Amino acid sequence: MGVSRAAGEVSAEHLRRGLPCAIGVGIRAVRTLDAVAPPLHAVEEAALGPRAIEQRRRIFALGRAAARDALAEFGIHNAAIPRADGGEPVWPDGFVGSITHSREVAIAIVGRRDDYAGLGVDIEELARGPSPRAARLVCRPNEMAWVDPESGTERLARLFSAKEAVFKAVYPIERVWLGFADAELTWREDHQVFEAELLKSVGQRYPVGFVLSVNSVLGATWVLSSAYLPAPAE
Ligand SMILES: CC(C)(COP(=O)(O)OP(=O)(O)OC[C@H]1O[C@@H](n2cnc3c(N)ncnc32)[C@H](O)[C@@H]1OP(=O)(O)O)[C@@H](O)C(=O)NCCC(=O)NCCS
Repeated sequence: MGVSRAAGEVSAEHLRRGLPCAIGVGIRAVRTLDAVAPPLHAVEEAALGPRAIEQRRRIFALGRAAARDALAEFGIHNAAIPRADGGEPVWPDGFVGSITHSREVAIAIVGRRDDYAGLGVDIEELARGPSPRAARLVCRPNEMAWVDPESGTERLARLFSAKEAVFKAVYPIERVWLGFADAELTWREDHQVFEAELLKSVGQRYPVGFVLSVNSVLGATWVLSSAYLPAPAE
């Protein structure tokens, strides 16, 4: 794997890289001096619950703000984005998308349902990534050989993040829970993407053997993944 790293902070270009159709992107800094979390819609407040601690409230609100920024690129303004029982965001009709946050940043991507059946985004801070001891829980045997936990955790963080992005892209389709062993990822150095082969069906149109592409960008302190499922050809 190349050691080239993305310079600086996460950018919309990092998220758009490799995706075949337009997406809207929202990126909100979490560590700002602005102490007030962006306002939430009532349905979002209800999803958060009255007992959410301040940090969770702030992160959740910044994720929703990033999601509204992303939707605004398609001319959808101030949409409410509730949360379904499985934790997934509920997007306005005609759209799919995904949210992720770290201690530094909240990120959302959205796309048209005509273009994508699912989108998944994930950011991990390298300093807080999975430990080598966790590798066996995250990796299938072939992945273990690529990750090589003895030589460091960067590849492991990359693989872990890519798997979480896959989960977020596929779960909302038919609410099938994918475990870490339910997809096998192969790194494609030439395109800087993972190919993720499903080992469990996540819906009629996405059977065992279906392959998703997962864009992976490595920064100095973070790894970012965006996965997509193309809309089925009619
Ligand atoms: C749900 C999960 C993917 C969230 O990832 P995370 O790294 O913990 O946290 P992130 O900040 O990146 O993402 C959190 C956001 O994910 C989204 N999310 C939560 N559950 C979701 C689901 N079932 N489907 C899609 N998106 C979901 C939400 O938008 C959430 O933010 P919000 O509550 O503020 O709206 C993770 O906790 C998990 O359960 N992973 C196990 C399943 C898995 O990854 N399998 C690998 C398959 S190959």
